Amino acid sequence: MDYAPTDDDYRFNVDIWAPFLADLDVCSRYSIYPLSNQEIVAIQNGMMPLLRRLQAWVIQCINANPEGMFFRLGTRSPKDVWKQCATHLEDNIDAQIALCRITSMADILRLCKYSERMIDDMRYHLEKYQGTQSLCIVLAPWRPRRGIEWRCFYRQDGTFAACSYWCDDATTATIPTSLVSFVKKVAGRLSALYDRMVVDVEVDGDNLWLIELNPWSEGTDPILWTWHELDALPSGTVAWR
Ligand SMILES: Nc1ncnc2c1ncn2[C@@H]1O[C@H](COP(=O)(O)OP(=O)(O)OP(=O)(O)O)[C@@H](O)[C@H]1O
Ligand SMILES: [Mg+2]
Repeated sequence: MDYAPTDDDYRFNVDIWAPFLADLDVCSRYSIYPLSNQEIVAIQNGMMPLLRRLQAWVIQCINANPEGMFFRLGTRSPKDVWKQCATHLEDNIDAQIALCRITSMADILRLCKYSERMIDDMRYHLEKYQGTQSLCIVLAPWRPRRGIEWRCFYRQDGTFAACSYWCDDATTATIPTSLVSFVKKVAGRLSALYDRMVVDVEVDGDNLWLIELNPWSEGTDPILWTWHELDALPSGTVAWR
């Protein structure tokens, strides 16, 4: 087990923030399926007859995206699955992420069986969140990484800090100004939901793409920063590493 999702993680589920950005062309068009507790148990145990409604939804999504889809739960992705079935991919991030590409219901069941993150999130959901929150399956059109991903820390007082997300990407000397304005635009849309957030953005030349949001708190990896440093930044700071 690596990490148990918290109330804060649930506040940042994709199904909560994505609708606020639906009319902006800044991120994946997510398809979202709220799971019942009975369906979660059926996924855990491979009980296919109880998953007919989910299967029909998956087939519909795949038919609309025959090149495949990126699979995750509302809480997190199964990007750790390579550790169970493909340890030779240790240094190949793109190949690790490619294991999250699905073209069938069987692919989803396999990821839920072998990813520790999926196993933990389903178990914790059943133990702790019965009836209070919904756990969703999220599918997005498959879109392989093209540029450099940045992890951006943003407070609604205008404070912005960033660093590259994958440690094998060289950090550039200056942050693109477009990244700061992009994050402010996204955060502006979400001001009713969050007073601080972590925004992952891929920058590919002039194209910027929102990967996802996470809580500004323990549980989210601050990468080249510490949470103490970030919390201590004066209001309105713009900083990067
Ligand atoms: N639609 C997509 N197609 C292909 N790859 C994707 C897609 N969306 C995201 N990814 C890749 O998968 C990685 C993990 O996705 P995401 O950030 O949504 O998951 P997460 O498990 O919540 O991550 P974290 O642990 O950083 O919070 C991203 O860094 C990105 O490289
Ligand atoms: Mg996340």
